[in-house]
Amino acid sequence: MKFPEGFLWGTATAAHQVEGGNINSDYWMIEHLPVTPFVDRSGDACDQYHRYREDFAMLSGMGFNTYRFSIEWARVEPEPGEFSNAAIEHYRRVLAACHEARMAPMATLHHFSSPRWVAARGGFENRETAKLFARYCERIGRELGDLIAYACTINELNSVPHLQHSAVMPGDDAILQLPWRVEAARRYGIGPEGFSMFPFAALSTTAPVVIEAHRMAVQALASGRGRFPIGMTVAMQEIEAGPGGEEYAARVARESEDIFLEAARGDGFIGVQTYTRRRFGQSGPLPPPAGARLTQMGYEYRPEALEATIRRAASIARTPVIVTENGIATDDEAERRDFIRKALDCVGRCIADGIDVRGYYYWSAMDNFEWALGYAPKFGIVAVDRATQRRMVKASGEWLGRVARANSPEIEA
Ligand code: BGC
Repeated sequence: MKFPEGFLWGTATAAHQVEGGNINSDYWMIEHLPVTPFVDRSGDACDQYHRYREDFAMLSGMGFNTYRFSIEWARVEPEPGEFSNAAIEHYRRVLAACHEARMAPMATLHHFSSPRWVAARGGFENRETAKLFARYCERIGRELGDLIAYACTINELNSVPHLQHSAVMPGDDAILQLPWRVEAARRYGIGPEGFSMFPFAALSTTAPVVIEAHRMAVQALASGRGRFPIGMTVAMQEIEAGPGGEEYAARVARESEDIFLEAARGDGFIGVQTYTRRRFGQSGPLPPPAGARLTQMGYEYRPEALEATIRRAASIARTPVIVTENGIATDDEAERRDFIRKALDCVGRCIADGIDVRGYYYWSAMDNFEWALGYAPKFGIVAVDRATQRRMVKASGEWLGRVARANSPEIEA
């Protein structure tokens, strides 16, 4: 089973999770509150802000032909309307280095973190943020578009309904009262409704704004230098109904995925991001079946989920599909390889059925800052010694690199 010629074989990261020192972002601020829900601080992360050349040489040497990373809005526009030429030049060097390493750069314009000032204006709960985001995207397209190979606008723009329906996040009323949100707002001298950090945001107000922000961002990026495919990325699960849960599961699919996939029609691609399956009962999510194997995230081990989500994404968005994230948090290298292998079989079956799947990005290139869970979950195919920043390619990384080079998952173990 060979994958189509030119298939994108990559790994993915996000600025706040790997760059380090993202001090002007809303996440950095929240990490440092006495009432923070984060177990670790991002700190130096993997110091990729300085080590990108070495990282690109390593990933390219392993066999990958593309790399997905994010450009940090908080660095590019540290104050409203005040753009940092130095930060833009930095990302110019990063994009150029990625090309020099013979990897096509896929740039995400927003991967969860925002400048603090955006959060203090209500983040994506405020309609004005769509325009502000588009203005930043316009600037990036104009200054860096000639070096971008693929662009993702907003990472998992559906993550607010996705997390609420999975009961990972409470409903809107409770979100407004989260102690860290109240405290962050107090520091800005505003009420808790005025401070919003994506995706820990109110569903009712955020969903329409992110869709509008995506549409405006697509246009803004396309107006710049360079012609490259632009898409959104969507957090998708294999959604299943438990006994009596048909109606609820259908509602979840509609509200947390389909309305976003419909908004992607006409885009260059749809980015599918899948980690597990979730089952729903009459009035909410059900726990994984008794005895189910769980990952370090507490998710059901379910690599097969990717097949269902690729098929749904393609049929609703009607665009080419790129798997922009798929992965597992584990310390067991055999388990990681087995997971990826099964996921790639899903990709292969979809391609064989005529679905236009253009690429697979494993999350993540390296162990990194897993948001509120800190540095404990190990998603990487490269380990990082955080004291020395030394990188160590794991067995699964060597294997996936060889798969990438062969353009086929069917290689000797
Ligand atoms: C996010 C990543 C995150 C990963 C693993 C995705 O939802 O885009 O930032 O680290 O899942 O949990």
